[in-house]
Amino acid sequence: SEDRLRRVRDRVRPFPDFPEPGVLFRDISPLLKDPVAFRTLIDLLEDHVRASFPKIDFIAGLDSRGFLIGPPLAQRLGVGFVPVRKKGKLPGPTESISYSLEYGKAELEIQSDAVEPGQKVVIVDDLLATGGTMCAACKLLQRLKAEILECLVIIELKSLKGAEKLNSIPFYSLLQYD
Ligand code: HPA
Repeated sequence: SEDRLRRVRDRVRPFPDFPEPGVLFRDISPLLKDPVAFRTLIDLLEDHVRASFPKIDFIAGLDSRGFLIGPPLAQRLGVGFVPVRKKGKLPGPTESISYSLEYGKAELEIQSDAVEPGQKVVIVDDLLATGGTMCAACKLLQRLKAEILECLVIIELKSLKGAEKLNSIPFYSLLQYD
């Protein structure tokens, strides 16, 4: 499995000074572009979820790169996918939450009927930075009384301490960077 992890890590490309000077951006485009690496990524996530949780109802994915990882993982697990979207994209009754970004604020939404009370959900995204977006998504799912089994990402930016913001919610990352 160290081999599989290396195959994935080798397809994450660091981009200095994006989107602004001083930021080292971890770009997963090469990972998505390489079909063997992409399949290996989903293999690793599937193995992790199967080994950790005997029963799960849904994968919830975060707008927008969670939409690239969540649906193939959900298909492997034989469960459905529910999107957590930026404000104004979802029709019908929704729950909304505003959260702060590095610069300014944003809002996330989920459809009110996305999950039933007590359903077991794993939330996925590509990357955890400060954890603000993931934390907001957890609050939305908690409002629907979902049971959040875990927040799951490919990449954790350790120095930003985002996992601490998730309080007691279990968190797992495949790859860690400082
Ligand atoms: N890569 C991708 N998305 C991000 C990053 C990054 O390094 N930091 C915050 N969002």
